[in-house]
Amino acid sequence: MSLSIDELYVAYGARGVIQGLSLPPLPSGSLVALVGPNGAGKSTLLRALAGLEPMKGSVTHDGVDVTQLNFAERARRLSYMPQQLPPGIALGVLESIIVGLRVGGAEHPAALAFEALRQLGIEHLADRGLDALSGGQKQLVALAQLLARNPQVLLLDEPTSALDLHYQLRVMDAVRQRVQAQRLLAVAVLHDINLAASHADTLVMLDRGRVVACGTPEDVLRPALLAEVYGVQARVERCSRGRLQVLVDRAVLQPKGAA
Ligand SMILES: Nc1ncnc2c1ncn2[C@@H]1O[C@H](COP(=O)(O)OP(=O)(O)OP(=O)(O)O)[C@@H](O)[C@H]1O
Ligand SMILES: [Mg+2]
Repeated sequence: MSLSIDELYVAYGARGVIQGLSLPPLPSGSLVALVGPNGAGKSTLLRALAGLEPMKGSVTHDGVDVTQLNFAERARRLSYMPQQLPPGIALGVLESIIVGLRVGGAEHPAALAFEALRQLGIEHLADRGLDALSGGQKQLVALAQLLARNPQVLLLDEPTSALDLHYQLRVMDAVRQRVQAQRLLAVAVLHDINLAASHADTLVMLDRGRVVACGTPEDVLRPALLAEVYGVQARVERCSRGRLQVLVDRAVLQPKGAA
């Protein structure tokens, strides 16, 4: 099972943002990190895959042409967690997850909902109101809502951007564990290159709507490419435990694709 993207185009009005993007098949059971500068087209790509932006090109999952599915079928298969969370709704945390599951016709919604909260270590928020949560708590609940639905492809737009050190790792570990145990595919936009390097099987680097690198973290994270794409002078080294680390020393010239 894999997700295949071929010759994808997305435009806002006359302005092309994703310009004929193709990737090698992304296999189920893997976590793909989508990285790249502000304005590169990362959110646009995820939204187009989820059917939230009009697109041209081919997207197939497990041999199924997802562009031919209706919106509900597509959303069940490929589920998107947005970068900007919608404003609070007057529901409790656990209740909001259960309501979403009931709409999707899931069996045992309460058990699934609680398991998602437990996996992210936020059971203590179950009875809190959605509109009375901190920014990071909202982000964790949004991820719990998505995990509970158990889509085959998780499209996560900066899932850790509001999280503290503990929960950044907790979320990435939970996503990795889910992906491997249930043979799902996760595509996560991450600005934290080191989090991407430590948790992703594959890195896809976007710049101005095009793929500039795709491969293992070791293949993609090269100082010359980081300079060209992000305009930073960086070292890529192994730490005392052998993990790949990107150490950014300074910003250099403004890269061409910058926001
Ligand atoms: N609704 C929209 N209408 C018009 N242009 C848009 C819209 N959303 C995004 N864009 C433009 O499309 C380009 C890609 O935006 P996108 O949000 O996909 O970038 P991104 O890679 O997710 O950036 P960031 O890291 O800042 O979230 C940018 O130039 C942006 O200004
Ligand atoms: Mg974005």
